[in-house]
Amino acid sequence: MSYLFEFSYHNPTQIVFGPNSFARLGDLVPSDTKVLLLYGGGSIKRNGVYDQVTEALAGRAVVEFAGVEPNPTLETLTAAVDLAKVQKIGFILGVGGGSVADGAKYVACAALYDGDGWDIVSGRFHPRQALPVGIVLTLPATGSESNVGAVVTRKSTLEKRVFYVPPARPRFAILNPEVMSSLPDRQLENGIVDAFVHVCEQYLTYPVGALVQDGYAEAVLTTLKTLADTFERRRETTWQQNLMWAANQALCGIVGVGVPQDWITHRIAVELTALWNIDHGRTLSIIQPALLRELIEPKRAKLEQMGSKVFGLDQPGAEATIAAIEAFYRSLRMPTHLREAGIVEADAADRVFAAVLAHGNAALGTHAGVDAATTERIIRAACS
Ligand code: NZQ
Ligand code: ZN
Repeated sequence: MSYLFEFSYHNPTQIVFGPNSFARLGDLVPSDTKVLLLYGGGSIKRNGVYDQVTEALAGRAVVEFAGVEPNPTLETLTAAVDLAKVQKIGFILGVGGGSVADGAKYVACAALYDGDGWDIVSGRFHPRQALPVGIVLTLPATGSESNVGAVVTRKSTLEKRVFYVPPARPRFAILNPEVMSSLPDRQLENGIVDAFVHVCEQYLTYPVGALVQDGYAEAVLTTLKTLADTFERRRETTWQQNLMWAANQALCGIVGVGVPQDWITHRIAVELTALWNIDHGRTLSIIQPALLRELIEPKRAKLEQMGSKVFGLDQPGAEATIAAIEAFYRSLRMPTHLREAGIVEADAADRVFAAVLAHGNAALGTHAGVDAATTERIIRAACS
């Protein structure tokens, strides 16, 4: 099948990578405005990142907001928005993982919006302006530090929504792999799998002869597989810097330019976090194998290519590739079925399907012609 590449690619986030990157904060954060330092539950206070960041910002007017939770909620972020408005904040510095980065993007937009903040999350309002954002990344996984996506949950209605806010794309992202030393294994496992599935969502569709995009996707996937195979070296600098760069490249937009993308795994998986607060990476390893088995025909050619190029299978059948993906997740102690995440409610699949339906994500079409019945079969295979 032929395909005409047609795209516009512009990613202006400045990446400052390396062990000395914190020293650059002083130049990157404007000195003539008040800064909101946004962070999570306190890991940065325990691992020395907070001290390094505040030292680099010495002499600046800095207001802090702590407590952005994993899978950030509208309820918590609303307090940060109120603070930003009252304090007349001019720059937002998020220090943390994807949750803090997403929270920073939301606050940057909502601080300049007088309506209900949920309008931004639900896509009813598309912000044209945002306060400038910078990110100090402490957990490589989502790629949020240099993309325009964000995910926010409204706790009161159990809704977790993905939204896109180009004006809040971070101006810069500090990627210092040394911060990874304090990460628990669970977060490293989550990060590898999240980045892996990000590439899959852009690569595992159908072949369009995109040699550069395919080759780049395969390089990132192979890197992530190698990092899983060498997990015992996770405290080494080389291992850490490779994961940090791979996770960034997986979702900075470059892998997916001009090729058909899919994102069905993410569309379903967000509901598992909304319902049971399961870590994002783990929701993906639960949904994706069932999804690939259900969509094996439309994805067969790409699965075979992946089996050969990423997993080095001698006889790369699509079934063997799915088994290899599952074994890869298991090697990282990830669940590949909902019950392995401790959820054994009899109506679990019904609840997931009802949520996917309610949020308009049951019949996504895509290259695989996914209708509501297909989505229901995927959910029942992963969650019943
Ligand atoms: O809150 P603190 O105390 O900082 O602890 C965090 C949190 O408990 C901890 N942590 C982070 N860096 C650490 C550390 N602990 C020790 N040492 C460090 N250096 O890790 C825990 C998880 O952090 P979180 O930010 O929630 O993880 P992640 O980066 O995986 O982000 C997940 C969120 O991003 C969204 C997910 O849906 C989820 O809400 N996503 C965002 C995307 C985007 N914007 O492009 C795409 C993704 O597909 C994803 O949906
Ligand atoms: Zn993800």
